[in-house]
Amino acid sequence: MEKEFNPFLVTGYKDAAHFCDRIEETAILKKNIQNNINTTLFAVRRIGKTGLIQHVFNTYAHNKKVACIYVDILGSRNLKEFTNQLATVIYNRFPENKGLGKKIVDAIKSLRPLISFDSLTGAPELTFELEETKRYEKTIQQLFSFLDQQNIKIVFAIDEFQQILEYPEKNTEAVLRTHIQSLKNTNFIFCGSNQKMMHEIFNSAKRPFFASCSNLHLDFIDKKIYADFITSIFVNNKKKITKQCVDFILEFTYAHTFYTQFFCNYLFSSGIKHIQLTDVQSIAAEILKLNENTFYQYRNLLTSPQWQLLQAISKEGRVYKVHSTVFINKYKLGTSSMVSRSLEALQEKEMVFYNTAVAQPYYETYDKFLMRWMQHK
Ligand SMILES: Nc1ncnc2c1ncn2[C@@H]1O[C@H](COP(=O)(O)OP(=O)(O)OP(=O)(O)O)[C@@H](O)[C@H]1O
Ligand SMILES: [Mg+2]
Repeated sequence: MEKEFNPFLVTGYKDAAHFCDRIEETAILKKNIQNNINTTLFAVRRIGKTGLIQHVFNTYAHNKKVACIYVDILGSRNLKEFTNQLATVIYNRFPENKGLGKKIVDAIKSLRPLISFDSLTGAPELTFELEETKRYEKTIQQLFSFLDQQNIKIVFAIDEFQQILEYPEKNTEAVLRTHIQSLKNTNFIFCGSNQKMMHEIFNSAKRPFFASCSNLHLDFIDKKIYADFITSIFVNNKKKITKQCVDFILEFTYAHTFYTQFFCNYLFSSGIKHIQLTDVQSIAAEILKLNENTFYQYRNLLTSPQWQLLQAISKEGRVYKVHSTVFINKYKLGTSSMVSRSLEALQEKEMVFYNTAVAQPYYETYDKFLMRWMQHK
């Protein structure tokens, strides 16, 4: 293992050795790809949706018969920008010089995009300057069908897919659905961090994408599996960590992937060789201190009742009956309708999520560090 590299990733993906579990979900995604089924990935924020896609793609890295393409459309504001992003990722995915890559790149060039270069990365960026929206629709169709006609399997992951709901072109869903339906060798993985909007697109009977994909729900990583993963990474890097320490971390972060990775990354970077419970406790306090300014900023963004409710949910950890008199009275939250209003705002601002994918649904604060900080206030 490389020496200076921190093995606990807090952004992106490296390889299977730095990725915990997701064996079942990986198998399901691959099976869907094998069977020409499009998948929609549902999960709460920062749990590892994008990581899972990269992990699945990594398994095809040496497979010449499968080409995986990933596009994150969060930054796109309209169909034109969507088309440009699509063309750019396809163009950059295939090396231009020979064979299939040359064929695809030539085909894209025949659509006459402007090619510029990103000033920071130097990577090519494609832009179409077309007169009407309809021409962009046509270009999307051409891009998809070029790829589909090649003698390989294409897997397209569109991340932050809910962004299409923000486009002024309200027929984007219908247009995409129509194009996608006609493809023979191309599969899609749709993924998004805003669950409410993703459900609106895929699970609403009136919308074009309804029942068109297989839904895959991504849950929290099993604590025992995560504990083994964390321990083995420390051990492989010549550090000792007790079970008690690992249990403390997973308890502190509720095993929420991003927060767990962040904690372990921070702990690893401290350079401690024999990690003791007092070490992880002081790392926890340091992390909360580090984020304190952000937490105060959150407070300025919320009304007083919203802040109070967030604090109450944080203190409880998980709230199963948010309208119960016991809960409302315990934290002096006023009336049930006040709680409803605040809750709606907190969910809208993605400060709190409602986990409905379990037998007993509950409300929980998204940011595990904010939750722990509030518990100590
Ligand atoms: N199975 C895993 N093992 C180890 N680290 C992981 C795993 N899955 C994700 N991560 C790491 O956790 C962090 C959050 O993951 P990721 O960005 O994939 O979440 P996400 O669900 O796509 O988040 P968002 O909802 O914000 O888009 C990243 O740093 C990623 O590297
Ligand atoms: Mg993501």
